[in-house]
Amino acid sequence: MRLVLLGPPGAGKGTQAVKLAEEKSCVHISTGDLFREALRKGTPLGVEAKGYMDRGELVPDKVVVNMILERLKEDDVKNGFCLDGFPRTIEQADVLEKLLEEIDETLDYVIYINVPRDVLVKRLTGRRVCSDCGAGYHLISSPSEKEGICNECGGALVQRDDDKEETVVHRLDIYEENTEPLVEYYRKQGILLVADGAQDIESVNKEVLNLLDKEERAN
Ligand code: AP5
Repeated sequence: MRLVLLGPPGAGKGTQAVKLAEEKSCVHISTGDLFREALRKGTPLGVEAKGYMDRGELVPDKVVVNMILERLKEDDVKNGFCLDGFPRTIEQADVLEKLLEEIDETLDYVIYINVPRDVLVKRLTGRRVCSDCGAGYHLISSPSEKEGICNECGGALVQRDDDKEETVVHRLDIYEENTEPLVEYYRKQGILLVADGAQDIESVNKEVLNLLDKEERAN
């Protein structure tokens, strides 16, 4: 299955993508994670992206597109993907469409996770991530068993630089200006499914699976 998860920062795209990738046997690809990994490795791509990410701005389309084109050529993508954080502009969506056309494929569904802005600010400022394995937590809704320590690998939990409150507010503005138009873009294509992302994590997952099942039964 070829899916895109669309929604504002903090909507739960990453959280739901991890679950969906397992449930639908497809690979989870997060452009934010790819940039953070490149930065950990100290590559020129990571260093270039860091400035934009720290300011809460979008990395230029050309840089993102080259990176994602490379990733989508890898073997593990053949059984499908769950894209998280890409596309984020109409230009990126056009590139993705052309790329899929070239290999005679199309997107199956775009899942839009809708969450009110005040909830997003609380989610992002309370998020903590493992500095070793990248697992995600939240101080209130999904805390680790031992404070500050990852349940999976024992690594230290840290706050992302772009999750400080002033950067979060800027990221939400950038989202509304550049990415929200994709909701209409995909609605017009007839492949948009809308989930209420303000519910708890398991309920959102259940709603997304129900939406996909309903569509698959109808087609
Ligand atoms: P990226 O890492 O993709 O950040 P984002 O899109 O801003 O998304 P987030 O990871 O902040 O949120 P999410 O929706 O995945 O929520 P999550 O599941 O983590 O990108 C970072 C930066 O990279 C961008 O700002 C940009 O600079 C650059 N970039 C990336 N892609 C790009 C592109 N295509 N073009 C240009 N630049 C690009 O959940 C958030 C928190 O809430 C967690 O703590 C989680 O535990 C909690 N939570 C999740 N769901 C629930 C729930 N239902 N109830 C309660 N808590 C919940």
